[in-house]
Amino acid sequence: MPELMVNIDHVATLREARGIHYPDPVFAAGIAEMAGATGIITHLREDRRHIKDRDVRILRDVVRTKLNLEMAATPEMTKIAVSTKPDMITLVPEKRQELTTEGGLDVIKYAAKIEKVIAAVKKRGITVSLFIDPAEAQIKASAGIGADMIEIHTGSYADARTERMKKKELDKVIRSAVLGKELGLGVNAGHGLHYHNVREVAVIPQIDELSIGHSIIARAIFVGLDRAVRDMIEVIKK
Ligand code: PXP
Repeated sequence: MPELMVNIDHVATLREARGIHYPDPVFAAGIAEMAGATGIITHLREDRRHIKDRDVRILRDVVRTKLNLEMAATPEMTKIAVSTKPDMITLVPEKRQELTTEGGLDVIKYAAKIEKVIAAVKKRGITVSLFIDPAEAQIKASAGIGADMIEIHTGSYADARTERMKKKELDKVIRSAVLGKELGLGVNAGHGLHYHNVREVAVIPQIDELSIGHSIIARAIFVGLDRAVRDMIEVIKK
């Protein structure tokens, strides 16, 4: 059964809707951990639209499970990662106009840039994951460039409108997970996963961790964060 890593960014989205001090994503991290999350994920975007530098610093101090910092492969973010020392980073592509991370990282096109970041953070003992589309060439490139893990982008699976498309996208995720493991990589998956589509991904034996944010925070509005995390773990277990 894969472990659940909870992304708490959208607690900060709600805070930033008012530009005040609550709700605090740091509190959310503690509640998610107590409810059984095995890791906390946060994305410090270049435009700081939700998570701020202060959040990352405090999260580093208080997270007792594992802190995964999502970030763009830029010199600024590399500096922050090296100084705050999360347990792991996940490199993601970033566009200012997007609502959320849209596609996977192009590891082939940006190999030189990514390699630099990997070298800098691995020296500090930080594990590196690359968020990529479920494509063979990207997985091979990730292994070749020295990543420890990949996170397979499940957005196309989650967005598929027909059963046929859903199956096709799920097959890609499965094949990618198998190839990732064969190449010696840790394999995570995430994006767009919710209580009604996570099961098919959770049963893939090669997947180590699921990265889920929006659906858990959305459910937390109605049932509370503790229950929302526990419910997701229950669905994954089944
Ligand atoms: N993985 C990555 C790399 C992401 O950028 C995001 C979104 O922040 C997620 C997982 C979580 O996606 P969602 O919020 O749709 O669960």
